[in-house]
Amino acid sequence: MTKSKSKRKKQMLKRRIIALIIFGIVIGGVVYTPIKLKHINLLQIEAKASERFNNKMSFIEDYKKIKENFSNLYASDDKLQEISESIDVIDEKLSNGVSEEVESLISTLKSVISDLSAANQIELENIFNDVNSDNINNFTEEEMNKVNEYTNEYNQLFSKEKYKQAKETLNLLSNYISETKKVASERKIKETYEQKSNEDSSLREPKYINGILIVNKEFGLPDSFLPGESAEARQAFENMKADAAKEGIYLNAFSTYRSYWSQNILYWNYVSNYGQDPTDTFSAKAGFSEHQTGLAFDIGGLDRYLWAEEDFKYTDEAKWLKSNSYKYGFILRYPEGKEWKTGYMHESWHFRYIGVDHSINFKDSDLTLEEYLGL
Ligand code: DAL
Ligand code: ZN
Repeated sequence: MTKSKSKRKKQMLKRRIIALIIFGIVIGGVVYTPIKLKHINLLQIEAKASERFNNKMSFIEDYKKIKENFSNLYASDDKLQEISESIDVIDEKLSNGVSEEVESLISTLKSVISDLSAANQIELENIFNDVNSDNINNFTEEEMNKVNEYTNEYNQLFSKEKYKQAKETLNLLSNYISETKKVASERKIKETYEQKSNEDSSLREPKYINGILIVNKEFGLPDSFLPGESAEARQAFENMKADAAKEGIYLNAFSTYRSYWSQNILYWNYVSNYGQDPTDTFSAKAGFSEHQTGLAFDIGGLDRYLWAEEDFKYTDEAKWLKSNSYKYGFILRYPEGKEWKTGYMHESWHFRYIGVDHSINFKDSDLTLEEYLGL
């Protein structure tokens, strides 16, 4: 009896414990579940917020990149100003957060900058091809190294899309090439002159290109070439002189045809007075003077003290000749700034008769006969 009583007691205790556990679980569930759900909800909100934050951050990063790209581009001052202004507007609006308006402004800016970038790229490629197609002749190894240095620097900047800096380097390259071409051309003329003037003058043949007799430091004449003053050139000069007079301009041809031998005396006379190197910049050795062709006219004006003088270029006569001589078949043979091509300093008084059909192409230009004939 006592045994079964205690057994029941035990069973009741067991049931109570089980009930208590179930009660605990139920109560726990009821209380815990909403807390848990709330927590999950909070996590989701937080995740969304952080996603939005990340989006904004990458958006701002993107915008920074757009601005950085802009600093690597070049354009007209107006265009640059216009873009800078729109960047200022965006910066100001951005300080109040990333609104839809800001997003749309940035996307417009992005497309403007990417168009500009594409235009920069095409323009640079074209300029580079032009610079590269420029014939580089007679450059020394040192000069070529400099060209390669600029070229490599340009290529690197271009590949990094630093178009503004690439353009500056390209300008340096282009200027370097054009300046060095002059130096190289002068060097070449000097070498050729040295060689040709030491050859047997009696073996020289007059050189004609497109019917034009060319005489310069490369192409000389034999001493037997004695044509005298060209009658055609004289007639053209007289016509020019008469027309100039109608405009109050007085012209005088003070030196025209000179034989090989008279040029020889003149040249060595200069050499004894000035030395050979300076003389070679303004007087030709015998056989290399255009005056021997009978087609070169040294023309002066009223003031004979300015004949064959540097300052003649400032006179009305020199200006008239420069602008009008082409109408009569004459060209200014040694233009200013073309020493590297002709081998002689500017001579505002030395005109060469080539006939109107050709001289017409020299109107308002500083073209040299060498360039005209493709030499
Ligand atoms: N003064 C020119 C270059 C000549 O001597 O022919
Ligand atoms: Zn002359």
